[in-house]
Amino acid sequence: MKRMNIGLLGIGTVGGGVFELLKSNIKEIQRKTSADMRIVAVADKNIARAKEIVGSSIEVTDDAFKLVADKEIDVIVELIGGTTIAKDLVVKAIENKKHVVTANKALIAVHGNEIFKAAHAKGVMVAFEAAVAGGIPIIKALREGLTANRIEWIAGIINGTTNFILSEMRDKGLDFETVLKEAQRLGYAEADPTFDIEGVDAAHKATIMSAIAFGIPMQFEKAHVEGITKLAAIDIRYAEQLGYRIKLLGIAKKTSGGVELRVHPTLIPAKRLIANVEGAMNAVQVFGDAVGTTLYYGKGAGSEPTASAVIADLVDITRLLSADAEHRVPYLAFQPDAVQNTPVLPIGEITTSYYLRMRVADQAGVLADITKILASHGVSIDALLQKEADEGESQTDLVALTHETKEKNMLAAIKEIQDLKTVAGEVVKIRLENLS
Ligand code: NDP
Ligand code: HSE
Repeated sequence: MKRMNIGLLGIGTVGGGVFELLKSNIKEIQRKTSADMRIVAVADKNIARAKEIVGSSIEVTDDAFKLVADKEIDVIVELIGGTTIAKDLVVKAIENKKHVVTANKALIAVHGNEIFKAAHAKGVMVAFEAAVAGGIPIIKALREGLTANRIEWIAGIINGTTNFILSEMRDKGLDFETVLKEAQRLGYAEADPTFDIEGVDAAHKATIMSAIAFGIPMQFEKAHVEGITKLAAIDIRYAEQLGYRIKLLGIAKKTSGGVELRVHPTLIPAKRLIANVEGAMNAVQVFGDAVGTTLYYGKGAGSEPTASAVIADLVDITRLLSADAEHRVPYLAFQPDAVQNTPVLPIGEITTSYYLRMRVADQAGVLADITKILASHGVSIDALLQKEADEGESQTDLVALTHETKEKNMLAAIKEIQDLKTVAGEVVKIRLENLS
């Protein structure tokens, strides 16, 4: 059996998981591979901690560049994270004709186009299953299992930290900061948790899925990104009363005008399976024209689930080692010369439904004024909820659900509604997807 020597860069949460899982399941894994996979060297800033994990039989260094230059190493597993040193290391590894496996969604979403081009030129593989939804094999499903389909849309709960926060806040009434700390303790959150709570991490993953689903380049800079930090508890409650749950969704949709690529809190009907995905779990719903709806569910973060995806990529590489570069599965599912420059639509051009909450004067004619403005912008109302004003209060909350409309129409209507003297403060707008 051929040897495949692996150099592991970063032995933190995921790297540690890869090392332990390879050790514990090696017999079962070797039955499925066509090469004898071995981690032969590890690079980590913390040499003492790394040695404690791997023992004395494996080389440990704090110089990751030494590994990407090492002629004995066939595959580099990059688990350091970030887009600076990780990028330099991956580019160098490719230059040195090494295959690369990474869990680094930021790197792939931001620099993927350049990395794939370099890898194509050198005839090496770059695998990144762990970069989207951790242990769920969604990249493989999109790239291979659903290949006969024209993918129409993808909607995913693809950030465990924010789903965990939303679930714990709703179920246990805990505050945002407490739950975020717990997510960090459990190893779900990124080194910089603002990437999680501001939607950036989910946007990296949605960008990667959009590229594979639609055969377009990575266009992270064009994604519309909103996190959960401005979400009010009252909207979670009103949504529930109307039969909806609020989730942070990553959405990629192909329309006749272009591609919608967006991450934001979204109302979804509580009866959908995906609405019931709780805690740090992830789920991705994909609509393909032939297969219809499919749903993928599992752990999207954490040491072992992510290691499971990293090792699956390593096994794939052993299986494809002897295939010439043109006959391997293309990085982005589509052949490189078939990738199309379909534009990502600006947010004003997307089409969706909306949840609106406004504080209004409890007097005759207010509702008529608001519905008139909505109608004048072609926005049709689906449902209305008006609370009885509290004792002694002259204002009350009015909640409206709308049918689908273009975002720019909705924004124009909201501006006019906010100008009404009978409406206090800002209108809260949350997008709504029926996912049907
Ligand atoms: P960790 O911070 O736990 O691990 C990174 C490791 O790399 C640390 O041990 C760190 O050392 C080390 N390191 C940092 N800089 C260098 C360097 N220049 N040279 C060598 N070693 C270095 O991160 P994770 O394991 O959580 O994440 C790794 C990657 O996997 C990231 O891209 C992340 O986005 C991705 N990912 C993570 C998931 C998760 O659940 N955690 C899930 C899916 C993907 P030190 O601690 O001393 O800085
Ligand atoms: N921080 C990420 C999450 C890790 O919470 O989902 C997995 O990519």
